[in-house]
Order: sequence, then structure tokens, then C-alpha cells
Amino acid sequence: MNTVSVQNVSMRFGDFTAVNDVSFTVAKGEFVTLLGPSGCGKTTLLNMVSGFLQPSSGKIEIGGNDVTFVPPERRDTAMCFQSYALFPHLSVAENLQFGLKQKKMLPADRKRRLDDVAEKLDLVAQLDKLPNQLSGGQQQRVALGRALTMRPSVVLFDEPLSNLDAKLRESVRLEIRKIQADYNLAAIYVTHDQGEALAMSDRILIMRSGQIEQSGTPTDIYNFPKSSFVADFIGNANILDATIIKEESRNSWLVSTEIGEFLVKSDTAPVAKQLKICWRPENAQHGGAELNSIEARVTHRAFQGNYTDLFIEINGVAQRVQWREGRLEDLTNLSMHIRPEDFTFLEAIT
Ligand SMILES: Nc1ncnc2c1ncn2[C@@H]1O[C@H](COP(=O)(O)OP(=O)(O)OP(=O)(O)O)[C@@H](O)[C@H]1O
Ligand SMILES: [Mg+2]
Repeated sequence: MNTVSVQNVSMRFGDFTAVNDVSFTVAKGEFVTLLGPSGCGKTTLLNMVSGFLQPSSGKIEIGGNDVTFVPPERRDTAMCFQSYALFPHLSVAENLQFGLKQKKMLPADRKRRLDDVAEKLDLVAQLDKLPNQLSGGQQQRVALGRALTMRPSVVLFDEPLSNLDAKLRESVRLEIRKIQADYNLAAIYVTHDQGEALAMSDRILIMRSGQIEQSGTPTDIYNFPKSSFVADFIGNANILDATIIKEESRNSWLVSTEIGEFLVKSDTAPVAKQLKICWRPENAQHGGAELNSIEARVTHRAFQGNYTDLFIEINGVAQRVQWREGRLEDLTNLSMHIRPEDFTFLEAIT
């Protein structure tokens, strides 16, 4: 059974529709990420699952029960925010037990929950400190711990790591994933950081203007984006207008684009004769080949350590590639090719 089931949920603020007919489920132990640009409705959707907002229409079930109009404190959810929202005058131990006290749990039971969470989150040595005596990462762990002591079946995260620096973000996200797996929780995680979404999620829902544009595993979404919006939002993509010339053989199409004619191999057929296609910068192959060769002019380069971003022009069209070999300092022209399977068909051009 799914722990969370969101069914045809919409949220309207006056004339404005912030969330538009969204449906998805989250299974026990599953980590689902809502990813999308600022203002696409992620927080609004999360707040409807937590109960802080009531949907204009649709239904939300948790553990098989209809909770659409059940207040937050009576749902089996816990929320973990971007701002840690710890009580500054309470010690770490008191912060961690806050919800349990409100629930009037007996001290001995509270202590057991506290010890368990403090150990799992490596906070045992911090229990007597006040929040302002902790590092940002430790504060974030306390906020997570406070949610976990409640033993919810669903944890909701709204950009919990955006206050942390890059290195710390990486370690805390590994921790969140580990803890979530340890407790076998259903998790819904909101971010607009594509790297975070790719690294953490079992499944990603890409949101755009209040709707789910595409959902799938990180590899699916990265390798098979359905639209230029998704291709561009997840990673870098070179997106081209294309016209299908003909179906060359099974699963292979000859297409014409502004940078040349290419053979495209795809398990899914193009949705229209005129459509967008994309290829990823890391799919540029060195040297010419029998198929799909490209001669390009290098306009800029940006060294990235283990590779170099090359900004190139093909027939006056700007594209970018990741290049890993050779001397690049005096590289002005590039011979490359793209394998037929490295192109992806996207949406129709209307
Ligand atoms: N209470 C409200 N009244 C009116 N409009 C609202 C309200 N809350 C949110 N909105 C609008 O709904 C849209 C979605 O907001 P939401 O906060 O869900 O976006 P988000 O995806 O979380 O963005 P961000 O990444 O910036 O946090 C925005 O256009 C916002 O202005
Ligand atoms: Mg938000």
C-alpha cells in the first residue's frame, strides 16, 4: 500500500492556480523529490500534504486514510524546513523532545526516543548545548531529529539544505538518505537543486507551473527527458529544432537540424514531424566518424578540473560540449561526432 496518495489535487489562490490537478503516490521507504523552478508550486503542494493548506479540490490519503481536511497535528507527518526553526532558549535535548512533551509522552519513553535519535544523528555530545552553540550542519541535524522523534510515517522536507555550504550539503544529504532508509520512512523532498534531486531520489517529479511535467527515476529523467523544459532543467542540454526526413530503419530516423543532418536512434518514436531534439554536452565524441560528424568552431572554454567546458559554434549555432582530452589552449576547431543513440526526441514544435 502507498503511504501517501495525492489524487487530482489543485490549489487556487483567487484567480491564480498554484497547483493544478496533481496526482502522485509515495510508498513506504520511498524518497520522492519535487523539483522545479521558483514559484512552480512545490511548497504549496507540500503544505497540502502536511495539512497547513487545504486543497481547493482533490483528495490526499496517508496510510490509506482520507486526511484532506485533517489538521497537521493529527496527520502522521513531520516537517523539516529550510530555516531550522529550533527554539533558541531550549537545549538540543529539549528541542528534540518538544513534540513528544506536547503529546504528553511519559519521560521514560521520551528518553528512549531521544537516545535513539541522538545516536543515529551523532548528536549525543551536543545534547546540553543551545542551538546557537552548534554549527549549521548540527542545527540541521537537530531539526531533522526533532521530526524523527515523532516517528512519523511520512517526513516532508522543504529545501532543508539551502542554508548550508556546498560541502556540508553533500554530507547532510547522505545522512538524510541514510536515516530515512533506517526508519523506512516515506519522504517527500522539495528542492530546486537538480544535483540534490539526482543524488538523493528514488523518483523525481519535475514540476512546472503547478503541474507535473515528468516523473521518473533520476536516470530516466536525465537520459530520457520528454521536453526541452526537463532537458534544460536537469543538467545541460543542447536543444535543436528538427524535422524528420524519414524513418531509416526500425528505431532509426534521419533528421535535419540547423547544425546538420543526423541519424537518431530512439526506442520511442518522434511525437511529430517537426520537433525539438537534444543531446548532452558529455556525449560529444572525439574525432569524425561515418555517422553524425560535426565540425565546430570553439568560441570559449572554461576549465572544470577533470574536463573542460567548450562553447562552440556549428553553422553559427551556439552549443556546448564537455571535452576531456588533448591540449585545449590553442584549440580553435573541433572535429567530433554524436552517436545516434545519444540524441533524444522531445516535444513537438507548435
Ligand atoms: N497564500 C498565497 N496566496 C497567493 N498566492 C500564493 C500563496 N502562496 C503561494 N502563492 C503563489 O503560488 C505560486 C507557487 O508558490 P510556491 O511557494 O508553492 O512555489 P515554490 O515552487 O515553493 O517556489 P520556491 O522554489 O521559490 O520556494 C507562486 O506564484 C506564489 O506566489
Ligand atoms: Mg518553496
